[in-house]
Amino acid sequence: MSKPLDGVKIIDFTHVQAGPACTQMLAWFGADVIKVERPGSGDVTRSQLRDIPGVDALYFTMLNSNKRSLTLDTKKPEGKEVLEKLIRESDVLVENFGPGALDRMGFSWERLNELNPKMIVASVKGFSDGHHYDDLKVYENVAQCAGGAASTTGFWDGPPTISAAALGDSNTGMHLAIGILTALIGRDKTGKGQKVAVSMQDSVLNLCRVKLRDQQRLDRVGYLEEYPQYPHGEFSDVVPRGGNAGGGGQPGWVLKCKGWETDANAYIYFTVQGHAWEPICRAIGRPEWIDDPAYKTAEARQPHIFEIFKTIEEWLADKTKFEAVDVLRKFDIPCSPVLTMKELANDPSLRASGTIAEVQHKERGSYLTVGSPIKFSDMKPEITGSPLLGEHTEEVLAGLGYSRNQIENLRESKVV
Ligand code: COA
Repeated sequence: MSKPLDGVKIIDFTHVQAGPACTQMLAWFGADVIKVERPGSGDVTRSQLRDIPGVDALYFTMLNSNKRSLTLDTKKPEGKEVLEKLIRESDVLVENFGPGALDRMGFSWERLNELNPKMIVASVKGFSDGHHYDDLKVYENVAQCAGGAASTTGFWDGPPTISAAALGDSNTGMHLAIGILTALIGRDKTGKGQKVAVSMQDSVLNLCRVKLRDQQRLDRVGYLEEYPQYPHGEFSDVVPRGGNAGGGGQPGWVLKCKGWETDANAYIYFTVQGHAWEPICRAIGRPEWIDDPAYKTAEARQPHIFEIFKTIEEWLADKTKFEAVDVLRKFDIPCSPVLTMKELANDPSLRASGTIAEVQHKERGSYLTVGSPIKFSDMKPEITGSPLLGEHTEEVLAGLGYSRNQIENLRESKVV
């Protein structure tokens, strides 16, 4: 089946997570993604947190499927020559090196634009160009702190907290993918390539939009009515950490279900949405609350919302998280069991939709990965195993016109 990005050639100069997540997604959708890696070692994630000695780590295999791997020392003159050839015939170059690394290698935006004016050059950095921290190297958790996620995540009596979700890495990669696709559509109109830059700080902040909303509300009125601190606690002049409170104006909390004493994930997320109040009261066997002035409105409920949650927990005490959701769904109440990675890995619906995909790898056998979260009516992305280091070096060089002898010479001089 042909794919929308068939024919788009991408030089994938990325490593770790932010860049690879972006190029992997473009590869799923049909782009020819050539991952350029240092001979001998390759992407550092190939050997990070290995579970099988000598075999590419899951960290690598789960972020580099559907790609080809070319080993190339781009600091050596012969390596630069190969790269220049590749640049001349590619549509996109994606990189997430530390600040200035590409310039130091001799491939500034000006040089790349001169080599191929139609090429889109896409970069991830920790901070945006011109920012007072734009010289810093950045990893995931650093970005979560820089983008406002850490100061607003966790409990008010604990320290700033990092989310397990890759808000700094994969999220930035997704922003970059949108930027690249936009630039490709732009190029169809203008015939010109352009530079696309996304910073991890900006991408995290984009997801913390509602916290900037809350800062402005706090500045104006001095409190935030949907936070647990209201109305009995104190607010300072910055958005506090709100524990498990809902961010959209509907109070919600993580509530204990049957077995919570021994199972750390025997919980559901329960939302007390305004218009669902009546069904909530019926579902939990408290019909008398429907018209009780102490419970009837969101304002009336807020001062004793934790007492309400406690009553709901009493109702949940003899129900597993799955049984509870099965009751609540009949009343149209937004809720979900707190699912573990083990439960997600074995979820039949996620397997059927391809969101959890089982993939074959030449050396490790089969492994699970997260497939495309984007579903199309005319295309089902097929996830293939990640490439071994340099698996496609010969194929790519031959495609650039190198003879067998020339490739052998490049190998001997450790350029590839
Ligand atoms: N051949 C030769 N040299 C290569 C090469 C290749 N194929 N690929 C990379 N290199 C060189 C680079 O040119 C650079 O050399 P230089 O610093 O001497 O100029 C060197 O490898 C190291 O690159 P760098 O990206 O700085 O690696 P690092 O391990 O020191 O830092 C990060 C890692 C992730 C912190 C850094 O790349 C970074 O901040 N990236 C931007 C933000 C980001 O994406 N963070 C990670 C999110 S998962």
